Amino acid sequence: MTELHLWLRHEARTTERRTPLVPSDARRLVDAGVTLTVEQSPQRIFPAEEYEAAGCRTAPAGSWVTAPADAVVLGLKELPDEPAELRHRHIFFGHAYKRQPGAAGLLRRFAAGGGTLLDLEYLVDDGGRRLAAFGYWAGYLGAALAVLQHRGRLDAPLTPTAHEELEERLRPVAGDEAFTALVIGALGRSGRGARVALHTAGVEPTCWDLDETRNLDRPALLAHDLLVNCVLATTPVPPFVREADLDEPARRLRTLSDVTCDVGSPLNVLPVYDRTTEWTDPVRRLHKEPPLDLIAIDNLPSLLPRESSVDFSASLLPPLLDFSTGGAWGRCRDRFHQARRELGIEEGESRHV
Ligand SMILES: NC(=O)c1ccc[n+]([C@@H]2O[C@H](COP(=O)([O-])OP(=O)(O)OC[C@H]3O[C@@H](n4cnc5c(N)ncnc54)[C@H](O)[C@@H]3O)[C@@H](O)[C@H]2O)c1
Repeated sequence: MTELHLWLRHEARTTERRTPLVPSDARRLVDAGVTLTVEQSPQRIFPAEEYEAAGCRTAPAGSWVTAPADAVVLGLKELPDEPAELRHRHIFFGHAYKRQPGAAGLLRRFAAGGGTLLDLEYLVDDGGRRLAAFGYWAGYLGAALAVLQHRGRLDAPLTPTAHEELEERLRPVAGDEAFTALVIGALGRSGRGARVALHTAGVEPTCWDLDETRNLDRPALLAHDLLVNCVLATTPVPPFVREADLDEPARRLRTLSDVTCDVGSPLNVLPVYDRTTEWTDPVRRLHKEPPLDLIAIDNLPSLLPRESSVDFSASLLPPLLDFSTGGAWGRCRDRFHQARRELGIEEGESRHV
């Protein structure tokens, strides 16, 4: 093990209760010789005391800014707007390589400080498969919310919950009408989660993946009551549902849950809406008659912060135990430099190899 000083930061976003590293995995890192500093965080689902008990040091929220230069700062979502210059190596989801709003600004901050972004979305194995992702719980929640909505039992605003509680609410009760459900992208991480949630709800869904959508049978799709879209599209394909289908009187489809949330992208397979829905208002009626309700929430796993953190942390632990300048982390760093070149951001002096 190289001498790694990992610094788990407090998340700036106040609704973000998840963490990429849970106390039991923190202990494994400490046992392997990693120095681990954990910032205090009022909202993190695991209290700082549990990390302390696992052998971690604690530090005030936001103190990563003054962390030693060789510390690797670990988080999940966006950094606060300050400081303007980022001088550390940062592991988190930067959402900065697909020309997203704010992408160039973030990469410029790294260039200014000589720091490096090791983006979790691009932490992949030799075959290009993601090593740590939140997909399973995203699919589970996307399907669970759709079932609750379909049964008229979805309360707004949504609030973070625990798996057992949600499972309990999902179970069918006497008088619930039977309905049919389709999961597309059923073989992926979120597809698997969606199938499990539907099974708990007493519904055995139709499962489609690449083979079943190659020659899309749209009437068959529209003949299901509920659709959970879990695809990870990499090339444009014909849309699964089109505007014209909303007017189709024979359509049975009433509830559409889009876990993928590719709204606005050329790869979007559900170009029938123009903005995601929110925890405060999770359902939007897309069409009056026949009715169609949409759920398109882009931070689903945050609704099950404990379970999704435990799962994610378990996948991130092996790469963290193996932290080095090569392999998966080397690919991450190369992808960062590629993104900077693509955006024409000057190759400033990088502090880290
Ligand atoms: N809403 C959220 O909060 C949230 C959270 C995490 C992930 N996501 C998104 O969910 C999507 C799925 O993530 P994942 O981790 O399950 O990905 P994954 O790679 O594990 O699975 C995607 C599946 O989609 C299938 N697929 C791809 N194109 C298809 C097509 N045209 N027809 C049918 N199947 C197709 C693939 O074969 C694969 O089985 C991604 O777009 C991801 O960004 C959303």
